[in-house]
Amino acid sequence: MAVEISGVTLCPSDDLITAACLDYPRTGLVDGYAFEVFGWVVSKAPVAEVEFVHEQSVLASCELTVSRPDVATVYGSSSPVGFSKAVGTVGLAPDFTVGVRVVFQDGRRREIAEIRGKQSRQRGAGPVHDFDDATNSFRMLGVPYFDFLTALHTHLTPRTYLEVGTETGSSLALVGCDAIAVDPQFQLDVTATGNRRRTFFFQMPSDTFFATENVRELLGRRVDMAFLDGMHRFEFLLRDLIGTEAACHPRSLILLHDCVPLNPRMALRQWLPGGPSETDTASFWTGDVWKLLPILKKYRPDLRLHVLDCPPTGLVAITRVDPASRILADCYYDIVDEHAATVMDENRLRSFWEELEMTDSRPLCEEPDRLTVLFSLD
Ligand SMILES: C[S@@+](CC[C@H](N)C(=O)[O-])C[C@H]1O[C@@H](n2cnc3c(N)ncnc32)[C@H](O)[C@@H]1O
Repeated sequence: MAVEISGVTLCPSDDLITAACLDYPRTGLVDGYAFEVFGWVVSKAPVAEVEFVHEQSVLASCELTVSRPDVATVYGSSSPVGFSKAVGTVGLAPDFTVGVRVVFQDGRRREIAEIRGKQSRQRGAGPVHDFDDATNSFRMLGVPYFDFLTALHTHLTPRTYLEVGTETGSSLALVGCDAIAVDPQFQLDVTATGNRRRTFFFQMPSDTFFATENVRELLGRRVDMAFLDGMHRFEFLLRDLIGTEAACHPRSLILLHDCVPLNPRMALRQWLPGGPSETDTASFWTGDVWKLLPILKKYRPDLRLHVLDCPPTGLVAITRVDPASRILADCYYDIVDEHAATVMDENRLRSFWEELEMTDSRPLCEEPDRLTVLFSLD
């Protein structure tokens, strides 16, 4: 949460206000939960209170209780003319204006200042995303998936890790424990092995891997954490999940990548580059692995899913896994038949995003205790 004050404008004196001023806030970043407003008002009628107004609602109010000898010296006022109030940012618009208004004892009101600011997300309203008209795409505003994975490795300290889809090894490089990496075409760079003692590389499609290898025997124990980021077609991810869950334990964490497309183009089953309007997202391809969300909700309500708002295209964290479950394997062909023809058009995308209950990734990274409570591997 970033809250920035972009400007403060003082209103001119009038028939009821001799002079008024705000000392704070000043332009720049302020606390994400609340910003302090300090000021004073010298008036020509008795003041009841000062109120802070956002979109016609009074957010907070306070009385003139702060003595301001500096102001008294100039205006000769004997009673306190200063006020101080913390104004909460919960519920403020992304581009907000807060009016500072004096309420007189006879009920009249006069605005003495306007505070303008921006906040990148609405605290207390859960994770927020926005829609970027320039690129015609949704956008996630949480912690980038890479940073979120780093936080998971740091705070959960898995002992075993399985990755499907490794490519250069960027996500694998974050891993400190024994690991298995599967990819039909590794393009590893030098950091891929990190400081790990044991890494098993399987250069083959994941179907071959699950059909021929025994994960528990390789690692000597079940998988604590898995990251599934291989072929971006839903039936592949479904099979990867079936194979992975069987190698997990009930407290394992399975992460699915790219399940939240930002626009219909990137959700196609075939990679197609974006047009000129897409700029930074033009190369993204999520494919149709988004279908795993409705599939798991229908067939595996026993799993706990968190859709994290991690840019660019989300992370789905699955817990309460059941290695003995046969439901997905037994229903595999029904599931594929049911979802094969579904296309993510603009209408479907909108309702998909509307129905998403995303988990705010920022507080989890800022307060790692919350991360470990949610995803503890023990
Ligand atoms: C998006 S990249 C992985 C990126 C990596 N996880 C990261 O975050 O740095 C997807 C990878 O999946 C691999 N892939 C494609 N088909 C696969 C399959 N059937 N089984 C396993 N991996 C596959 C591709 O070769 C590619 O390297």
